[in-house]
Amino acid sequence: MRTVDWVGGVVRMIDQRALPWSFETVDLGTVEEVAEAITNMTVRGAPAIGVSAAFGMALAGFTSAARSPEGIRADLAMAANMLKNARPTAVNLAWAVDTMLTLADQHDYRTADEFRHALIDAARSMADADVEICKAMGRHGRELISDGMTVLHHCNTGALAAVDYGTALGVIRAAHEAGTRFHVFLDETRPRLQGARLSAWELEQQGISYDILPDTAAGFFMQRGEVQLVLVGADRVAANGDFANKIGTYQLAVLAKENRIPFYTVAPTSTVDLSLASGSEIPIEERSPDEVTHPYGNKLVPDHFRARNPAFDVTPARYVSGIVTEHGIARPPFTESLQKAVAGQLL
Ligand code: MRU
Repeated sequence: MRTVDWVGGVVRMIDQRALPWSFETVDLGTVEEVAEAITNMTVRGAPAIGVSAAFGMALAGFTSAARSPEGIRADLAMAANMLKNARPTAVNLAWAVDTMLTLADQHDYRTADEFRHALIDAARSMADADVEICKAMGRHGRELISDGMTVLHHCNTGALAAVDYGTALGVIRAAHEAGTRFHVFLDETRPRLQGARLSAWELEQQGISYDILPDTAAGFFMQRGEVQLVLVGADRVAANGDFANKIGTYQLAVLAKENRIPFYTVAPTSTVDLSLASGSEIPIEERSPDEVTHPYGNKLVPDHFRARNPAFDVTPARYVSGIVTEHGIARPPFTESLQKAVAGQLL
């Protein structure tokens, strides 16, 4: 099943909060519910929340009481605002909403129903394209992995983080499907444990060899020569190659450079934000301290103990060996290679 889909007038998602213990889905019938599912991380991962927002826009059109295309446009504007505010860091969210708004503006629909169907078709096409883009990144990136390697991975960047297949875990899957034999270290990724809960669940299903590591063990294994490659995803890549990804990525990049280990991020061009000159301009989400002190309802410390919970950090481009996109691998200097990647002219 796809992470998110349009099924008979509702948006159906895998509830990622329930994994790996149970496989559950939720059906969302309003744009408010879609925005809330993005905020509370029923669905998470940059490409997945982008496509979810596109389906949210389709739902806004589908449920709109308007009788004219103009009326639907007004409802779409409200939905766009709500969806864009659901989570701030992954640019895929705003990109997907803006893509849907552009579609709404560019065509003259004769009837409200024609408009509604066009929105649903566009969101579905975006979902289909996401799968193909992930597979293309897998084809470009799988050459980075060779027999006998151990690859360190952070967070969850697999099928669950996209519509299907995944970004960095998609590269890992592509290498496995090509017959390469290697091992994966999965950072557990505190505080929400996307690595331990979601990435391990995916690799179990694919039969890929892995161990979950406490986040604090990455340096230990790198120093002992037991990691040959680091692969992570991205939530937003600035024009100079700095990128935001799950908290903990920056320290991995520094450790990789110290230990002379290649460090790659895997991101579709919908994650590249050329309007930002550097990573210092990327908005970083700070989530509730409860996720640190009471993860998944488990009370680790007394209620009055205080915590901070930034969800992402920014890795400077100087630590990045390359950025795997659907158009090929962008390499330093990123100011040039990312422009080419976004224009589809990298290869
Ligand atoms: O907070 P999350 O789980 O949405 O964060 C996800 C990540 O940081 C991923 O690495 C990123 O979205 C790339 S996933 C294809």
